[in-house]
Amino acid sequence: MELEILQYPDARLKQKSAPVTEITPEIRALAENMAKAMYESDGIGLAAPQVGRFVRLITVDLSGPSQREALKVYLNPVLEALPDPESGKPEGVESEEGCLSVPDYRSNVKRHSRVLLKALDLDGNPVEREAADLEAICLQHECDHLDGKLFIDRISRLKRGLYDGKVKKRLKAAE
Ligand code: NI
Repeated sequence: MELEILQYPDARLKQKSAPVTEITPEIRALAENMAKAMYESDGIGLAAPQVGRFVRLITVDLSGPSQREALKVYLNPVLEALPDPESGKPEGVESEEGCLSVPDYRSNVKRHSRVLLKALDLDGNPVEREAADLEAICLQHECDHLDGKLFIDRISRLKRGLYDGKVKKRLKAAE
């Protein structure tokens, strides 16, 4: 099964996903095919709604498509902002993000620099993990997808307007 990655402005990307209630063979196959699609598209993270499946499942591999050695599949992930170990306060971090569903565009986005992830793995075991830096950013980005949110929903209105203008032009040219 080859998965198609939905692209903005597809309205389905705004849909909220439902929790995984049972780890069926279909869920396992979905995770496997999502990992494949993620690697083939040169991504480090993918969320099920991006392939039109509205369940709370994400795949992440920060080692990237060239190494493919740190694949994680998280079901029903929940994030909590963690304080910075030095200052004792939650810290924000701003970095450039892109998304397989938002082609040819990158922009700075503000995120928490550290998060606590609680989820289930594909065997139904609870996972609890502290993440920082790129991993924390990637998890926040993917979990946003499960709530129908894209990184371009977190940029300034001005930047978003410019991007939407570009998308409109491109769609018109393709008509
Ligand atoms: Ni994305």
